[in-house]
Amino acid sequence: MPVITCIEDLKRLHKKRTPRMFYDYAESGSWTGQTFRENTEDFQQIRLRQRVAVDMSDRTLASEMIGQPVTMPVALAPVGLTGMQCADGEIKAARAAERFGVPFTLSTMSICSIEDVAEHTTKPFWFQLYTMRDEDYVRRLIQRAKDAKCSALVITLDLQILGQRHKDLKNGLSAPPKLTPSTIANLATKWAWGIEMLGTKRRQFGNIVGHVTNVSDTAELGAWTAEQFDPRLDWKKVEQIKELWGGPVILKGILDVEDAKMAAKVGADAIVVSNHGGRQLDGALSSIRMLDPILQAVGDQVEVHLDSGIRSGQDVLKAVAMGAKGTFIGRAFVYGLGAMGEEGVMKALEVIQKEMDVSMALCGKRDIKDVDRDILLIPEGFSGSWQA
Ligand code: GLV
Repeated sequence: MPVITCIEDLKRLHKKRTPRMFYDYAESGSWTGQTFRENTEDFQQIRLRQRVAVDMSDRTLASEMIGQPVTMPVALAPVGLTGMQCADGEIKAARAAERFGVPFTLSTMSICSIEDVAEHTTKPFWFQLYTMRDEDYVRRLIQRAKDAKCSALVITLDLQILGQRHKDLKNGLSAPPKLTPSTIANLATKWAWGIEMLGTKRRQFGNIVGHVTNVSDTAELGAWTAEQFDPRLDWKKVEQIKELWGGPVILKGILDVEDAKMAAKVGADAIVVSNHGGRQLDGALSSIRMLDPILQAVGDQVEVHLDSGIRSGQDVLKAVAMGAKGTFIGRAFVYGLGAMGEEGVMKALEVIQKEMDVSMALCGKRDIKDVDRDILLIPEGFSGSWQA
């Protein structure tokens, strides 16, 4: 068993164990990958302020996201095709999140269905919604999430159409993988993944297959998104969905102050400052750069979370110190899942927890709820020198 000390270790194992098309799916940004890269690079520009001779005993990272207790302010983000990174992936990730005490968010584009995840977990999870042209299907999907006792609806606002990730097209991404000669050659080197995958019946989009009629091909994510996702999604529809759901709503994909104000106006319980992990609009600013202006505009009206670029506990600490009440990790947990299944997700969470805890202590703080900007060294003009 290799010694895992950081998220990079899990990423290396993930790459080794998982078919190329799924590793590439997780790892890609859109077009040139500029926003994808800057999401992580910009975190590194912010430095931490070392303090000494401060009592470091009895530390805690426990806090709340949308009023729900969390052992640390980190939720597992909705990630499409998670059940292709590892057999039964969504169930394994949800179980790890439950063991750890952080929220798990199930993607609409998951392999394991809402019902399947509910059946294999004991605590409520969050459900992420993509709105489809078929409004009746969306209504049924929301009802299914309610029946499964999901405790928040995360509505994604930045993916009515899919950003182009070159590798997905080149690899012919689909679930299950279509057996072309190059896919077969690659799968032959991933036998442990293949044996587990042969042992499960969950190999298609579980929330879709069997629940929609008249669709041409659910297997190809790109084609299916273009055909089914609702390009007419607007704030009025967001309000209608919120009403239909009737519970806590988190609006994900906010990267602009004006959109943040709209999200606060429609009464979101939280927003996620996000550029979809650099997978949608290449050339958009990183989430961490946009966090401050958005907090200044709506931080007193709505809870603000952040995703895109978090690969360590220090990244979480920086976002929280800036004012985010919570963060989401996508790739960081997917690496763990692809590397070692449920235990790998636990490992990813443990790594992040430890990095956050030790960094917080060395910054002279004992309680994550007391962490504020005082611990950060932010370069001048970090958020503010862009002209609209
Ligand atoms: C879907 O959420 C994707 O980014 O592929």
